[in-house]
Amino acid sequence: MVILIILIIGLAMISPYIRLNPAQSRVMLDPSFPLHYTVLVIHIFLAFIALVLGPFQFMRGIRQRHIALHRATGRVYLSCVLLSGTASIIVGLYTADFTRQTAFLMLAVLWLLSAIKAYIAIRQRRINEHFTWMVRNYALTLVAVVARIIVPLSIVVQLLRGQISLPINITEVLNKTLGTGIWLAIVLNLVLAEWTILRRIQKKTTERD
Ligand code: HEM
Repeated sequence: MVILIILIIGLAMISPYIRLNPAQSRVMLDPSFPLHYTVLVIHIFLAFIALVLGPFQFMRGIRQRHIALHRATGRVYLSCVLLSGTASIIVGLYTADFTRQTAFLMLAVLWLLSAIKAYIAIRQRRINEHFTWMVRNYALTLVAVVARIIVPLSIVVQLLRGQISLPINITEVLNKTLGTGIWLAIVLNLVLAEWTILRRIQKKTTERD
């Protein structure tokens, strides 16, 4: 069910970019950077692959019975994060809104660092540490999805509180709300990631006692 929701939101997010038509871009393209659309599309498609592959990396059955598959998809996942994360730093430098820009750049740095930590840990056979960094990394991948849930909800809250009035200019409201939505999703997802990690440690300790 969760995988289906992730897939549906992910597909909805990438749909304006599937035809590779810059005129359909929802991101305002900077004419001073001719490769803006190309780098954006590289970011989007590789991030989508990571988004879809991520949940399968956490399935215990696959890890225990098909370790070669887990390793292969893990390599694809981490390569997508590293390339997409680098592309997102480049497009992030051209993001017009300051709140959104700082959120994206912080997210990109954390995304890259946690992927590198996860990779180093597994190369050195530190399995628990690898798992911990992968939980953090996938929580950051999911920020894109969670922000798309938070933003419409926060627009409804603003409407109910009379902070915006009808008829609304949707582009203006989205532009105002997206930056805060991404920051909120980063905080929420990282808190949930740490909670998941702590629960696993507690479970293991209880089993040992
Ligand atoms: C987790 C790390 C991520 C970072 C740091 C990041 C960063 C960015 C940045 C900087 C932009 C340009 C925004 C602008 O200039 O206004 C962007 C756009 C976009 N990203 Fe990501 N992103 C991430 C994850 C994802 C994921 C997992 C997806 C899923 C497919 C995704 C899909 C998109 C889409 C579709 C756009 C175009 C904006 C839109 O049409 O709404 N991103 N991202």
